[in-house]
Amino acid sequence: MDAYRLLYPMRTYLIVSGHGEEANVMAADWVTILSHEPFMVGVAVSPKRYTHRLISKYREFIVSVPSLDMLRDVWIAGTKSGPSKLKEMSITLVPSTKIETPSIKEALANIECKVIDARDYGDHTWFVGEVVGWSYNEKAFKNGKPNLEAKFLAHAAWTDFVTFDKKIHRP
Ligand SMILES: Cc1cc2nc3c(=O)[nH]c(=O)nc-3n(C[C@H](O)[C@H](O)[C@H](O)COP(=O)(O)O)c2cc1C
Repeated sequence: MDAYRLLYPMRTYLIVSGHGEEANVMAADWVTILSHEPFMVGVAVSPKRYTHRLISKYREFIVSVPSLDMLRDVWIAGTKSGPSKLKEMSITLVPSTKIETPSIKEALANIECKVIDARDYGDHTWFVGEVVGWSYNEKAFKNGKPNLEAKFLAHAAWTDFVTFDKKIHRP
């Protein structure tokens, strides 16, 4: 077993990159918040990914939050390479609020990032994005917190995905 699997389950996100006809979507688990103020996020992208080329070219990306209902599209995004996969997917690309890279209409949220740093660590590049805009589904985020009824997606193992139990545990 790969030792990185010891950090699973993780959430799964979609990374949108590229402009216009060149727009592309890949699945990414290795995403994290880096700073609150200013809001910054990081994503580890292998140089083998088409997405790597597009983020490096346009210095922008979207972290899109899929629901379990989007699993078929997440799997295509995570197993096929290049913008032609979008023809097989059922997502709708829509304009973002602050950057040219499009957002995903069906996603629970879209976080719009401008690249402020990119550094290679081993076999991945860590792209740091300053968040310059966002949009979200108001049913999925009620009263400032995620509504678990929206079926946020998490990744357990290669082909195994789960969503969250609606039972809340408090310390
Ligand atoms: C659930 C899931 C999570 C993934 N997470 C990452 C990740 O964090 N970083 C990465 O570089 N590749 C990740 N991948 C692999 C890419 O999504 C995959 O290689 C994809 O085909 C790349 O698309 P592209 O070449 O169009 O950019 C993941 C794949 C899956 C299925």
